[in-house]
Amino acid sequence: MTWSHADNDWPTRGLSFGADYNPEQWDKEVWKDDVRLMTQAGVNLVSLGIFSWGLVEVADGEFDWEWMDEIVDLLADNGIAVDLATPTAAPPGWLLAAHPEVSPLDHDMRPRWPGSRLGWCPSNPVFRTYALRIARALAERYGHRDHVVMWHVSNELGGGNGRCYCDTSAAAFRTWLENKYGTLDALNKAWGTAFWGHTYRDFAYILPPRGNESKNPALVLDFDRFSSDELLAHYLAEREVLKSVTPDLPVTTNFMVGAEPDCVDYPRWARHMDIVANDHYTRSSDPLPEQDVAFSGDRMRAMTTERRPWMLLEHSTSAVSWQPRNRAKTAGELIRNSLSHVGHGSDGILFFQWRASASGAEQFHSAMVPHAGENTDLYRDVCTLGRHLQTLAPVMGSRAPQARVGILFDDEAGWAMTGGVKPNNHLSYGRIVRDWHAAFWRLNESIEVLPPWSDFTGYEVLVVPGLFLTDDETAARVKGFAEAGGTVVVSYLSGIVDEHDRVRLGGYPGAFRELLGAWCEEFRPLQEGETFTLDNGWTGAEWTELVHAEEAEVIARYVGGHLGGRPAITSRALEAGGRAVYVSAGLDSDAVLALARSLVRPTSMANLPNGVEVLVRRNDDETFTFFVNHSGNDAVVEAHGQEMLTDEPVSGDLHIPAGGVRVVRSGAVG
Ligand code: GLA
Repeated sequence: MTWSHADNDWPTRGLSFGADYNPEQWDKEVWKDDVRLMTQAGVNLVSLGIFSWGLVEVADGEFDWEWMDEIVDLLADNGIAVDLATPTAAPPGWLLAAHPEVSPLDHDMRPRWPGSRLGWCPSNPVFRTYALRIARALAERYGHRDHVVMWHVSNELGGGNGRCYCDTSAAAFRTWLENKYGTLDALNKAWGTAFWGHTYRDFAYILPPRGNESKNPALVLDFDRFSSDELLAHYLAEREVLKSVTPDLPVTTNFMVGAEPDCVDYPRWARHMDIVANDHYTRSSDPLPEQDVAFSGDRMRAMTTERRPWMLLEHSTSAVSWQPRNRAKTAGELIRNSLSHVGHGSDGILFFQWRASASGAEQFHSAMVPHAGENTDLYRDVCTLGRHLQTLAPVMGSRAPQARVGILFDDEAGWAMTGGVKPNNHLSYGRIVRDWHAAFWRLNESIEVLPPWSDFTGYEVLVVPGLFLTDDETAARVKGFAEAGGTVVVSYLSGIVDEHDRVRLGGYPGAFRELLGAWCEEFRPLQEGETFTLDNGWTGAEWTELVHAEEAEVIARYVGGHLGGRPAITSRALEAGGRAVYVSAGLDSDAVLALARSLVRPTSMANLPNGVEVLVRRNDDETFTFFVNHSGNDAVVEAHGQEMLTDEPVSGDLHIPAGGVRVVRSGAVG
């Protein structure tokens, strides 16, 4: 079978299924076995060559393509499409030996020594020249092969070289600042450099935030922004080379979207991706890993244009190897996680990696073919998943309907909240956002996790959790949303500083004070182990505030303690039926759930059996409803249509086995 990507605007004909493929780690005999097993499992796409730079460019300008030619041919002969990676995540030894200055330096000016990966400074011109040369060479050699269907630029850009503090970076940072501010006066004013007498008299005196001591948070924030822009510039330079040779091949890079502020600003990068792609790994310590899958999917969907499908480029079949204790997935979890990603809008399910490595830094990471080989439950699950994905091919291209709940998430706000000294340095931005997401997720609400510049039209509830940095425009649009009849929930530590990281004066949260009709005079962070109780029985920890509710109704007050009788949660009614709720305290998750429940109109989805998640995708003619049973009990829900995985009609009761998934195909309205 030959495949040409011109047939379709998605790189594979069916839902993409496969993995990072690293044949360079194996003898050629194993390659034959690989394609046999891939074919058996239904693999139709592999990411090839990700770390292979030193294996094809064996010395400066000297190329050995033989092994890659062979594997590219073998994949073509077996009808397996290639997502070809530029290998720039792994600079070869000869390059690092000849140009040690390309290594990034950490905040204490220590180099990232060779022996790992992503050991390069994003601003280094020497590295850029070499990287673009290998990208061009690959594009010219393989880009016109029919089964090479997309480009995978480097790998997880920023995962290791997200911040470089070397002199080259410092010079590039100064240029970036001159472009942003124009004059030193403007920069000094924006950063408030008079504090500690730091007023700059020359751009040349500005350095990245080196060392461990407290720095001006505005400097730190601009360095975060600069670092994201530098890595994006690298991506764009590679992209331009690839497009100059193969204008029609989609180009992407794999994001690492999760719940904490990312190392780069993914929503601002997303518009430069032909396919928005993500790597997602759950953590052993996460009490709710299935909600983490949902959270990343709800973020990814908001990064594509008009909720188009995205692609999961990596996740794990079972345990990873980079956590302190690496949890193996339980029976059914591999398939359940994968189909949840599809339900959340991914049209591809790929893993790291195809075959578990015998050697090297990740030799104990799970893969589609484990160390024990094909006669394993894991490989059999992989084959079952492959069959499921083939069955689900009609889902391709369908999109999630407009969600009812929008939750704002912004990397810049997260960087601002966590950079520099803060009233409670133990708070996590991601935790605050995820608590709100978890509450609506438990209610089976449709959710999107949006960048603040998104269009808010169509949502019923807009949550603004910990949006520490809020610019005037965002504040005005949030206000406009509530004035037009929407429900806005603002949590503590939102709207505290402007885009220059300068505190908004006159009472917190300055950006939302007027909308909320309430304001905070003083933060009252709690000590470890300290808790509070409200007069409606809700409890919490970590954070309280001294709040004045002037034009808002008080929903709950503190009981006892130095804030006894004072407001903790307020609500202001607006004319068109809108309202603005202020949550000034660190509520426990049960209280967040109770509050979330009071903010949305009940739907039938909220009454589904415990642990059953519902996800909907639609196209013009059909609706695909995914029922994902995360619980250990069989469940029964009401559904009508054709169940796709069992190919049985459903009219009324649909049985979903414990830990299983069912997908019901029905007419457009669903
Ligand atoms: C990341 C990388 C992969 C691999 C996996 C392991 O996603 O891109 O190369 O290291 O993590 O989980």
